[in-house]
Amino acid sequence: MQYDLKEKVAVVTGGARGIGLAIGEALAAAGAIVTLVDLRLEKTTLAIQPLQELGLPVMATAANVSHPDQVRAMIKAVLDRWERIDILVNNAGICPMTPVEEITPEEWDTVLGVNLKGAFLCSQAVIPAMRRQGSGKIINIASSAGQMGGLAVGLHYSASKAGMLGLTKGLARILAPHIQVNAVSPGTTESEMTSGWTQQAIDDIISKIPAGRLGRKTDVAAAVCFLVSDEANFITGQTLSVNGGLLMV
Ligand SMILES: NC(=O)c1ccc[n+]([C@@H]2O[C@H](COP(=O)([O-])OP(=O)(O)OC[C@H]3O[C@@H](n4cnc5c(N)ncnc54)[C@H](O)[C@@H]3O)[C@@H](O)[C@H]2O)c1
Repeated sequence: MQYDLKEKVAVVTGGARGIGLAIGEALAAAGAIVTLVDLRLEKTTLAIQPLQELGLPVMATAANVSHPDQVRAMIKAVLDRWERIDILVNNAGICPMTPVEEITPEEWDTVLGVNLKGAFLCSQAVIPAMRRQGSGKIINIASSAGQMGGLAVGLHYSASKAGMLGLTKGLARILAPHIQVNAVSPGTTESEMTSGWTQQAIDDIISKIPAGRLGRKTDVAAAVCFLVSDEANFITGQTLSVNGGLLMV
């Protein structure tokens, strides 16, 4: 089903590649005007070229989501240009595989800073505009690691993604009834993030997935498109798992 997101203004963080880029493409294909945010402008600009050649309204901008000033400036720039933000997708994330004994306090702070604080900062920055509009959708890209403990990832990653589920529910209550906040929780998904994993690690994970394969970026993007559509207006504070049955709750 193609959802109608015509003229909705969307911001997707971590959009230079992987799942974020796929979400940006899917939102734009459904009619949204999409700004993809990532660390390096050149990389994001290059990544969106094929989408722009297809005529999709996709723009690139740079910000580190863990830096409050950069987040505020990025959201202000989008609002200056489009005067509204209908959709925020907090997708930017990092996933070190560091064994628990070797995680330093600094690395812990970095992972929580990008994955969890970044989602908080971006959400906080869009709230005034969404409240003014009387509508808005915030999607947090969590992870099955946050629901069940990671199979191969670092403990800080699992903790940050569990935190995103609490952030989702808290924000959903605070921002009701006009703004909906939901999480999409992928299981292991084919992307640059997982492309360096050993075949043995991948095979081990696939053996635990009833669907018998890893997730695809488009699986996650489709879930996001549903949740930001008007068809999902009665859904808030929920976690939509996109994991092939790895975890059934
Ligand atoms: N790939 C998976 O198996 C999987 C599974 C579950 C959840 N996720 C989550 O999905 C999201 C996207 O994952 P992916 O596989 O596409 O990863 P990826 O590494 O391919 O892409 C992540 C993007 O986020 C950007 N980014 C990192 N730190 C940033 C920061 N501080 N500010 C702005 N941008 C930043 C990176 O530059 C990169 O372009 C992440 O939140 C990840 O935790 C991925």
